[in-house]
Amino acid sequence: MKLLLITCLFVVGNWIAPVVSKDAALETVSKHGKLSVDGVNLVNQNGERVQLKGMSLFWSIWMPYYYNKTTVDAVKANCHSNIVRPMLAIDTKDGGYLTDPDGQEALIYAVIDAAIEDDIYVLIDWQDFEAENHLEQSLYFFDKLSKTYGSYPNIIYEPYNEPISLEWSSVVKPYHEAVIKTIRANDPDNLIVVGTPQWSQRLDLAAADPITGFDNIMYSLHFYAGTHQQWERDITKAAIDGGLPVFVSEYGTVNADASPPVNVSETLLWYEFMEERGMSYVNFAVSDKDEGAAAMIPGTPPDKTCAEEYLTESGKIVVEHNKA
Ligand SMILES: *[C@@H]1O[C@H](CO)[C@@H](O)[C@H](O)[C@H]1NC(C)=O
Ligand SMILES: *[C@@H]1O[C@H](CO)[C@@H](O)[C@H](O)[C@H]1NC(C)=O
Repeated sequence: MKLLLITCLFVVGNWIAPVVSKDAALETVSKHGKLSVDGVNLVNQNGERVQLKGMSLFWSIWMPYYYNKTTVDAVKANCHSNIVRPMLAIDTKDGGYLTDPDGQEALIYAVIDAAIEDDIYVLIDWQDFEAENHLEQSLYFFDKLSKTYGSYPNIIYEPYNEPISLEWSSVVKPYHEAVIKTIRANDPDNLIVVGTPQWSQRLDLAAADPITGFDNIMYSLHFYAGTHQQWERDITKAAIDGGLPVFVSEYGTVNADASPPVNVSETLLWYEFMEERGMSYVNFAVSDKDEGAAAMIPGTPPDKTCAEEYLTESGKIVVEHNKA
């Protein structure tokens, strides 16, 4: 009896049960409020562990027609999500924030406004592979963003989508520290999710030299189940076991280049891995491009986002897990 009691206390003390119901869409901002990081866990305003599950939009420059409230309503209702991730395109062959800051910013702000109205979280992604070369623009964007929206608990910042194979300590980390400092001047506590080298896979590099002096920082993991498998789960597990808080700000069920097929068995292994740890995850993408990673078939209108008859093979698995 005594032994049993001790065992129970041990379990409760070391593992905070997630308070989420099966369906992420029911786990709203008004229910969970301001998020923070406690050890490796994401917790709500009462210190209880919380899990965010949802959808990334496609690059703002290429699918602007999904950047409004019609889509965000459907992301919550049909994709069963409590988080949406607008992707601010920075520097593509067709332009982006560097060439049209006002137009691109307006798309992102429309999604943020809709997410606030719809009572879900919103992860604002600086969709760049060389953000250290655009530091001035990034600081301008995040300064304005955090001044405008920093008081809303809905807001989560992602200042660097995927650093390529760059040095963590000398290049990526200093970039993050500069952006974090700028955000924190306006917004003392909303969550910031920072990208790691090699397309946000090398959590081991961040774990060896984490960012210190700031609260509510998590490290982003990106995976595509057709390409990134046990090796990446092992790296991630070691990083988490070592105390690094990890947030899956982008994942796909297919290959890293978004091509098919859906790798069902590996995707299920990843879900199991993430669920065991109560991790948050955001699928790429709300998109009707003719490619494996798209959740919807070509020609899907915004109000049919994640509607059952418009889902692809990938979309079906993703929506199933957002509500299960
Ligand atoms: C969002 O954009 C789509 C596509 O342009 C349009 O059909 C829909 O009416 C828009 N919704 C809102 C709320 O503006
Ligand atoms: C999924 O990945 C596993 C492990 O690499 C591989 O054996 C399997 O053939 C892949 N499945 C598909 C459908 O590509």
